[in-house]
Amino acid sequence: MDLVLKNIGLLATPVGKTAKKGGEQKQILLAENAFVSVENGKIVYAGQGQPPDAAQVIDCQGRLVTPGLVDAHTHLIFGGWRQKEMARKLAGESYLDILKSGGGILETVRQTRAASEDALYEKGAALLKEMLAHGTTTVECKSGYGLNLPDELKQLRVAKRLAESQAVDLVPTFMGAHAIPAEYKENRAAFIELLCGEIMPAVKAENLAEFCDIFCETAVFTPAESLGILAAAAKHGMVPKAHADEIDPIGGAEMAAAAGCISAEHLIMASDTGIRALAEKNVAACLLPATSFCLDKNYARARDMISAGVAVAVCTDFNPGSSPNLNLQLPMYLSCLKYRLTPAEALTAVTLNAAAAINRSGMVGSIEPGKQADLVVWDAPDLEYIFYRYGSNLVRSVVKKGKLVV
Ligand code: NIG
Ligand code: FE
Repeated sequence: MDLVLKNIGLLATPVGKTAKKGGEQKQILLAENAFVSVENGKIVYAGQGQPPDAAQVIDCQGRLVTPGLVDAHTHLIFGGWRQKEMARKLAGESYLDILKSGGGILETVRQTRAASEDALYEKGAALLKEMLAHGTTTVECKSGYGLNLPDELKQLRVAKRLAESQAVDLVPTFMGAHAIPAEYKENRAAFIELLCGEIMPAVKAENLAEFCDIFCETAVFTPAESLGILAAAAKHGMVPKAHADEIDPIGGAEMAAAAGCISAEHLIMASDTGIRALAEKNVAACLLPATSFCLDKNYARARDMISAGVAVAVCTDFNPGSSPNLNLQLPMYLSCLKYRLTPAEALTAVTLNAAAAINRSGMVGSIEPGKQADLVVWDAPDLEYIFYRYGSNLVRSVVKKGKLVV
């Protein structure tokens, strides 16, 4: 055996290769005094018994072990930061006011266009290391700060280089429909034509994105425009996703269901009809409680979504505006406190359900034979502890594809 983790006080993991909905979201495996054995980067056995000999042994000394965390919604690659917006927020300007005035996302677009590919790469690599140190082993990452052909491709090429060179698994999403850039302010139809007619084919030609996301929101893209853009993306082989009903209830969840999205994001203002539509069409909900926290807004109705049979995932939404936090442990805590998820439901939300939202649940998201050996050893005696001692990084060690990386 290549690697054995022994003396695991508690092994906690969801089980299976598909998203967990409704009552299943809380059904996790809890095994005391367990071990995990690993060969060729894959899990061979996880559970109780006598650990075999191995080339490398990690003594967990009674600690908690979970699957590596999956962050299924981030805007990882961007130039600059936006700390100057804090004063405007405190003075009462809303997120959409700042965007409408040419700031917000558009400020990050200016800074991202000005940044070189190498500079974005170095910054992204450092951020990924920080994520890994906080227990995140798989990260989805969206473009959307270029909003033109060269700069959208630049962001996605950075993602590709990072995927090839970094320990964390990266899953790329094209999000050219993130805002209307200043130069198309008076001609949104022409921008949509640019996205679908030029940028999407170029993204496809270099095979730079698996998914296509869109900001369906007041003053950004309407549900009708979103449907058209996501249909074009599907024709280019990208699976649709949507930022939906984040700020205003404009039927974003209904749109995401109609577009055949694999997941819908935010959903703070989603209607009952919208939630039902997500359940019917098997759309996962990627909920982002740290964004509600940062914008000082309401929290999505996660309990209603679970009751309706929607698979709930929880992610950071890491970005320079509405969620400058990359530590998934904060949204984990908030998902218990504000969404009223139980620790078991929340664990599923940041592992198996998050993996399902990015089409990776056959490979990661749980600790069981055949899956990739992505594991976190926590400085914690039980599962409740990591949803309780917020504010500290409770990660002790991280194993990625069978290698000790933290
Ligand atoms: O998910 N809402 C749209 N996009 C991001 C924010 C991006 C930004 O402000 O830079 C989000 O919150
Ligand atoms: Fe987002």
